[in-house]
Amino acid sequence: MKTYMVTGGAGFIGSNYILYMMEKYGKDIFIINVDKLTYAGNLENLASVSNEENYRFVKADICDSEAIGKIFAEYNIDRVVHFAAESHVDRSIKNPEVFVETNVLGTLTLLNHAKNAWEKSDGSYEEDKIFLHVSTDEVYGSLEKEGEFFYEKTPYDPHSPYSASKASSDFLVKSYIDTYEFPAMITHCSNNYGPYQFPEKLIPLIINNCLKGDKLPIYGDGLNVRDWLYVMDHCKAIDMVINNGKDGETYNIGGHNEKQNIQIVKIIIDTLNEILDDSDIRKKHINYDLITYVDDRKGHDRRYAIAPDKIKKEVGWEPSILFAEGIQHTVKWYLANEEWMSHVINKDYLDYYKKMYK
Ligand code: NAD
Ligand code: DAU
Repeated sequence: MKTYMVTGGAGFIGSNYILYMMEKYGKDIFIINVDKLTYAGNLENLASVSNEENYRFVKADICDSEAIGKIFAEYNIDRVVHFAAESHVDRSIKNPEVFVETNVLGTLTLLNHAKNAWEKSDGSYEEDKIFLHVSTDEVYGSLEKEGEFFYEKTPYDPHSPYSASKASSDFLVKSYIDTYEFPAMITHCSNNYGPYQFPEKLIPLIINNCLKGDKLPIYGDGLNVRDWLYVMDHCKAIDMVINNGKDGETYNIGGHNEKQNIQIVKIIIDTLNEILDDSDIRKKHINYDLITYVDDRKGHDRRYAIAPDKIKKEVGWEPSILFAEGIQHTVKWYLANEEWMSHVINKDYLDYYKKMYK
């Protein structure tokens, strides 16, 4: 039985990953979810597995060396799947410090403890240990020309404090691979969407605002492009990289699903109108008139697009969920989980929203 330490497991992708793994492997794995529960962490996401005997939650900050050391001392951890991060670009523009603390120093703390726990006296490592560092395509910067893609060898060119902090953490992981032959891999995924995503991010924010009849804020000209991937396809890719990938390697994850932001917003409006019953009074206000162009994000990257050739060839992963299907499922999930959203839309969120979109 393999023991997984999942950091940031109460966040959007981390909680989807834990649900995916518990469903796929049942009692054949043991998962320790290590999460500080920042504004983005939500244990409600994991209610269905919280009482399972092969799942534990430990509330801890990945920067807290003592707390992380204790977990490594208590459990024989085989895999670290490292999601924990400050993840929102807009917040990083307003308050970069915490991004450096968590994303850079937190990653270093985890690397040191995993290395200490796994390294043998001759400098080699215990068999079959792996540290999977979950990174982002944003470290590659912005694509300006049609037909260009991010490959694993694309030079780093981060622009936001968020992507700069993720790039720094990637370099630390790479340095541990090169210096200590530490058993790690890095993945760079494009934009995820799906259930349990915090409504500071474009897709859940637009769904929530539509339902409330609030304006739909679009930065700049709305023509920035993101490459959207359904979150479960990302979770599956991580599992396959751990099982089929090679130590020391980097893999890009994406599904060739580029869309302009304005297209995404219109698709959500159309999908809600398709799904909602004609008798639903919210239908009256859900239309394109809600779209409002607002000031652009500072340093806004124009386009991201992943070339997933390596992961397909070497790991055998391909996305399985088309955007048309994934967005239907996502919109339906938010409609069926309005209570989840009502808990997330607390005073902190409303204060953030007011400041951000004033
Ligand atoms: P999220 O913001 O939804 O969740 C982050 C989680 O980390 C939260 O549960 C939070 O409580 C926890 N956390 C934050 N600081 C912590 C700390 N100091 N110690 C312990 N836990 C802490 O993020 P997400 O969207 O699920 O992203 C997860 C990872 O995937 C991040 O590393 C992000 O860079 C990467 N990523 C995200 C996307 C995307 O589209 N969301 C795409 C590619 C890569
Ligand atoms: O590419 C991977 C990255 O995707 C991850 O590393 C990040 O953690 C994740 O947050 C996401 O970053 P983005 O900045 O691309 O996602 P976001 O949902 O914040 O924005 C998507 C696009 O929509 C972006 O071009 C900005 C725009 N946008 C966003 C918001 C919140 C708007 O036009 N209006 C908005 O209100």
